[in-house]
Amino acid sequence: MKDNIVLIGFMGSGKTTIGMKLAHAMNYDFMDTDQYIESQSGKSIKDIFSSEGEEAFRILETSSLAELNQSLHHCILSTGGGMPLRKENAELLRQIGMVVLLKASKEVTYERLKGDKTRPLLAGENPMQNIEELLNKRMPIYEKVADVVVSTDQRTYYSIVNEILNYYEER
Ligand code: S3P
Repeated sequence: MKDNIVLIGFMGSGKTTIGMKLAHAMNYDFMDTDQYIESQSGKSIKDIFSSEGEEAFRILETSSLAELNQSLHHCILSTGGGMPLRKENAELLRQIGMVVLLKASKEVTYERLKGDKTRPLLAGENPMQNIEELLNKRMPIYEKVADVVVSTDQRTYYSIVNEILNYYEER
């Protein structure tokens, strides 16, 4: 297996924040697939969704992941919450490195994301219902792709980072 760590999980599960802290602790690079897509396309995720639609975004996710699979090493890769859903992405994620699922309850997810205007999938009338429906649909897929599962509710970043480091050393 390559020496990268891949973070997957729902929006607001802490992938970017934990990923940056983990990269710092390990002296690894940090990469975020949404940021990669935004820098390659010159558009925000929100603009891609509104001008080209979700399917176009999903195609960009897959091509970006295939590119990153060729280039990444010594890297913590944080991924968009929908990344594991396509079968080809799930395979690429597992090729890139150890896959860590960050989990948060729907209540904590809601608290972390309320008022957020950057995530098109939560922009509807009832974000809590969207979160619940998407979480129920996605969690079994996330769990299938993950090598390890780490809960992030009511925990310090320090303890989460240490748990991931322990898994990485044992692997
Ligand atoms: C999405 C999650 C977002 C972003 C896009 C779609 C999803 O990333 O990729 O808005 O389908 O769950 P984060 O998980 O980093 O918020």
